[in-house]
Amino acid sequence: MKKPWAGRFREATAMSVERFTESISFDWRLWKYDIMGSIAHAKMLARRKIISSKEAADIIRGLEEIHSEIIEDRFRFDPALEDIHMNIENALIKKTGNAGGKLHTARSRNDQVALDLRLFIRDETKGITGLVKKLQRILLNTARKHTKTVMPGYTHLQRAQPVVLGHHILAYVEMLQRDRERFDDSLKRIDVLPLGACALAGTTLPIDRKFLAKQLGFRKISENSMDAVSDRDFAIEFLAVSAIIMMHLSRMAEELVLWSSEEFSFIEISDSFTTGSSIMPQKKNPDVAELLRGKTGRTYGNLVALLTVMKGLPLTYNRDMQEDKIPIFDTADTLKVSLEVLIDMYPNININKQRMKMTSADGYSTATEIADYLVLKGLPFREAHEVVGKIVGYCIDNGIKLEELPTEKFRKFSPLFGNDVSSVTSIESSISRKKSLGGTAPDEVARQIQRLRKVIR
Ligand code: ARG
Repeated sequence: MKKPWAGRFREATAMSVERFTESISFDWRLWKYDIMGSIAHAKMLARRKIISSKEAADIIRGLEEIHSEIIEDRFRFDPALEDIHMNIENALIKKTGNAGGKLHTARSRNDQVALDLRLFIRDETKGITGLVKKLQRILLNTARKHTKTVMPGYTHLQRAQPVVLGHHILAYVEMLQRDRERFDDSLKRIDVLPLGACALAGTTLPIDRKFLAKQLGFRKISENSMDAVSDRDFAIEFLAVSAIIMMHLSRMAEELVLWSSEEFSFIEISDSFTTGSSIMPQKKNPDVAELLRGKTGRTYGNLVALLTVMKGLPLTYNRDMQEDKIPIFDTADTLKVSLEVLIDMYPNININKQRMKMTSADGYSTATEIADYLVLKGLPFREAHEVVGKIVGYCIDNGIKLEELPTEKFRKFSPLFGNDVSSVTSIESSISRKKSLGGTAPDEVARQIQRLRKVIR
């Protein structure tokens, strides 16, 4: 196969080099964007009379045919033609002869690949934020059913203070909201037209970049041709924002694993979202959640991979940059399946309210409330902490719960305790009194749900 660039070459490319340098085995995925960009480019060339309108029409018809062939699986991608750009251009030339040969006027694969990637990431970003919104809605619906479901809140994975489950779930809704904002914000930097930068320096031909931007729906046009072909920070940002959201999904997944254990028994994931063991017949494993957690690792790897590829590259384009595609595709795919499976699975989780409540009542989780009680009676918090610490110690030694301790006993530790202390030792009152903004009181959680419903719309 003669390469489109083979003019000055006297020898054929070595087979090992062909195998090593090809990218068509993965960048074929950019075909739709490559065709889209080429159609806009052909229209622009005709508008500027760089090619005739007949030639542009031939090019566009040829590209549309190729489009159908790819969709119908009739197109043969050839590794000897290296990448998606040359595969499509070559097929076009076969179809249209001279006209096709004019398409690559005032264009280089360097601005072409930057364009394809931006179009790809722009689409993926929009798709992903749609999925994040869907997941947020599902979480919000679940939270709404659990504004009064008591559970232990943890620090250090030790029971800390009782909270309501709705509050816990809303924490993730907030994280996902920031993730969405990060994706939306990154669009500002993705949505920039690089086409027209050509190889690196621009062109002597009278191109019209504003027209291209309009055709391809770009909000901005790159202002420096060398930057346009050598920057991949928009792709790195996509990988970074994706890694952050995967970290959030992974934490959520970790809790699902933990909570579905026999030891916690807070939830049961339905059969259709769990898997069995090939040896232990009794097992029902939370593999989906575990894989969510596991797949997070590769999205971090993808981020670090591209950062490392880019870190030592002199301006402008270097072939190293071809290595950007697999990490980008992999992260986009991984994030999307992860969101999809969570969206699917979440409504299939049964919540064991009884068990959650029981475990919150088990400990000494209202100790802070008792200290706050003393504070309101005038004791400095540090001293109150000490007093309540002693009370907890006493209860542990005697095997009783805080709410079982009679008022007289409380008074032995501090005369500030009155009969009303019983109203702060109960879990329910501890929760319902946490009305501070963002606190766990059911009223406050309900208010937050209302607010988030508007934000997520
Ligand atoms: N396949 C290449 C890539 O993905 C396209 C750009 C090639 N440009 C070049 N001058 N070799 O980066």
